[in-house]
Amino acid sequence: MQIDIITVVPDLLQSPFSHSIMKRAADKGLLQVNVINLRNYGLGKSKQVDDKAFGGEAGMVMMIEPIANCINDLKAKKNYDEVIYMTPDGKTFNQKMANQLSLKENLIILCGHYKGIDERLREHFITMEISVGDYVLSGGELAAAVVVDAVGRLIPGVLNDESSALFDSFQDDLLSHPIYTRPAEYNGWKVPPVLLSGDPKLVKQWKEEQSLKRTEERRPDLLK
Ligand code: ADE
Repeated sequence: MQIDIITVVPDLLQSPFSHSIMKRAADKGLLQVNVINLRNYGLGKSKQVDDKAFGGEAGMVMMIEPIANCINDLKAKKNYDEVIYMTPDGKTFNQKMANQLSLKENLIILCGHYKGIDERLREHFITMEISVGDYVLSGGELAAAVVVDAVGRLIPGVLNDESSALFDSFQDDLLSHPIYTRPAEYNGWKVPPVLLSGDPKLVKQWKEEQSLKRTEERRPDLLK
């Protein structure tokens, strides 16, 4: 999969994909993330990318030409499955969307800034709008990093233990059960004995019960 991220703050996206699982995905050639500096498409000497809003509103708006030129340049080289715009008024990101996106080949992600982008871009270029939650970030970069991370780890072959993503919280609309490692007792705090029983059937049953209990307690909305 290739993901091209368009941003005015490319530095913000240097580190997130250079470590851990995202690095492994890149090293294995399974995920290539390209960060494109929108400023290179800026207008005039000052490389302008934003302008005042029509209608006298406060705050700057990202202009249509630099973004349109950038997206058209990318599209001239390759077909894209989605052109995603990161925005707080997009569809709230969840595991199901991550699963669906992990099956795509090529994605463009546009990071918004200032007041947002000229509406005509949304009408004519953007195919999907994603929010990472009901709060406003100062730009779409961190939100884009969240999406790329959640999607990237689902690409087949990225995780070492192929099955482990299947048991993630949310994968089946349930939260994960509690997990433990050695020592079996610390400070008098014991690991649930069933996990040391060596009986796979009992362990499986315990995990399912705990998963359901945790979901009921913390996220009853997932069970509806
Ligand atoms: N840009 C600013 N806030 C955002 C959010 N919550 N989700 C996605 N992009 C954003």
